Amino acid sequence: MLKARRTPIIAGNWKMHKTAAEAVNFVQELRPAVAGQNGVEVVVCPSFVALVPVIEALKGSNIGVAAQNVFWEKQGAYTGEVSPLMLKEAGCRYVIIGHSERRQYFGERDETVNRKLKAALAHGLTPIVCVGEQLAEREAGVTEKVIRTQTEAALAGLLPEQAAGLVVAYEPVWAIGTGKTASDEDAQQVIGFIRTLVEGMYGLEAAGRMRIQYGGSVKPENIAGLMARPDIDGALVGGASLTVDSFAAIVKGAGVKI
Ligand code: 13P
Repeated sequence: MLKARRTPIIAGNWKMHKTAAEAVNFVQELRPAVAGQNGVEVVVCPSFVALVPVIEALKGSNIGVAAQNVFWEKQGAYTGEVSPLMLKEAGCRYVIIGHSERRQYFGERDETVNRKLKAALAHGLTPIVCVGEQLAEREAGVTEKVIRTQTEAALAGLLPEQAAGLVVAYEPVWAIGTGKTASDEDAQQVIGFIRTLVEGMYGLEAAGRMRIQYGGSVKPENIAGLMARPDIDGALVGGASLTVDSFAAIVKGAGVKI
């Protein structure tokens, strides 16, 4: 499937880092550092409390903003939760759903990922849906089985057009924050598999348009190799997105393709 049809997307998942003031300083430096970098979509994912000031600081730029989580209801008695309506009104374009840290520490399941995904789409947000196997699962040779279960459950019940507009992030859990990146070949293999699954669910057109990122210890040194693979459309970056220099270098590394 022609990769030229898909614009690469590099997203910086800051996790629970950066106060609002730090986040605003960061994007003020990032703007000039990635200005003129055409052909790559750049996204930052601050904490909830930093979203509004970051969106304000990015007005007039092409850098998009994602929340790191969302609840599925629009409003109601759900203490501590943030609704898709609130994120949309704040000016978010994207939302990360089902990150492995949310699955591991906060009880996120494939069913809740699916509910959140549908709610995000209903409010005009673009989900960045995360899937990925644990180390023990890879070692047991069940990576594809795990990825199939997660992907089919997370993406169930969409229209082909909605599936086409999604971003999926393949993040092998053993590669997150460990410095241990999946090889380009392993990443391509699983991401190609995800695209084939989506083709089975929603057809060739949707599968060909959907962007699928790799995440897990992405750095300036390994982005070009990943991007050279036919099905890898960008990266969800954790640690290396926390400094402007390394994040901008990754954006540039993703832009020198095709
Ligand atoms: P690292 O880049 O720090 O491995 O984190 C990846 C990640 O979890 C992005 O969502």
